[in-house]
Amino acid sequence: MKKLTAVLLTLCMTATLTACGGAKGSSGADAGGIKTVTSGKLTVATSPDFAPYEFYAVDENGTPELAGFDIALAGYIADYLGLELEVVPMDFDGVLMELQTKSVDIGISGLSPDPKRESIMDFSDIYYEGGQSFVCKKDNADKFKSLEDTNNPDYEIGAQTGSIQVDLAETNSPNADIIQLTKVTDIVGEVISGKLDGAYIETPVAESYAKNYPDLYVALPVPYDAAEGYAIGVSKGNTELLNKINEAIAKVKSEGKMDEFVATANEQATGEIIEGLLDSDK
Ligand code: ARG
Repeated sequence: MKKLTAVLLTLCMTATLTACGGAKGSSGADAGGIKTVTSGKLTVATSPDFAPYEFYAVDENGTPELAGFDIALAGYIADYLGLELEVVPMDFDGVLMELQTKSVDIGISGLSPDPKRESIMDFSDIYYEGGQSFVCKKDNADKFKSLEDTNNPDYEIGAQTGSIQVDLAETNSPNADIIQLTKVTDIVGEVISGKLDGAYIETPVAESYAKNYPDLYVALPVPYDAAEGYAIGVSKGNTELLNKINEAIAKVKSEGKMDEFVATANEQATGEIIEGLLDSDK
């Protein structure tokens, strides 16, 4: 794993996927009048620790590639806009930061349209639905029969830095020691190894990793009403881009393509967790 990590580091700090020829424009505006941070490109921030949304899939040759239905959706949108796709992998709190500073055009990263984020980004329409879960190690399944059981000062409970799961942890397990980690893959690893007693994770993600790691147990559903579903974060004030993205989302759904992207991502998300990809920035 370590050797692979080193290879991955050199390979994957910035992954560029070309979706199509890309219509070149001048001064950051493409033929359709859409402004992007780099002319002719759609620059997308994502946190690939989140199967089946975005993750690294390793092919037969051991080559890691960005995969997931968010990545497929990013490609579809770039194509729709006639722009070249540039996906920039980073930790999830980085995705929020890059959107806030308008260093990227969009963030596709299993983002919940949390009203608290509305001051730093615009949200597209919802492109996918999913719920929230509390996970633990299978051996500890008996300890967590209800959410009240998680609210114990003896427990260390994980949540990804910057995510709505931190709020869920603070709401449901205020007496526990809440440990924030930058990568969901590390959270999963620490739950399995017993370093964390449990964690709050998106249900589709928890189920995906539980399939590959039977020691991970999806123990409890967690209520969350604030921002159901997943949306694309769009650089604030770029209304033309936002409108076009909403058109593309309506199209990808009506064509049944989104369902295809999800099915493919679920098939691909059967491999080992690749962790430590961004270890150099820790
Ligand atoms: N849906 C949650 C949020 O918006 C978590 C998203 C984490 N995404 C990721 N790629 N790790 O806060």
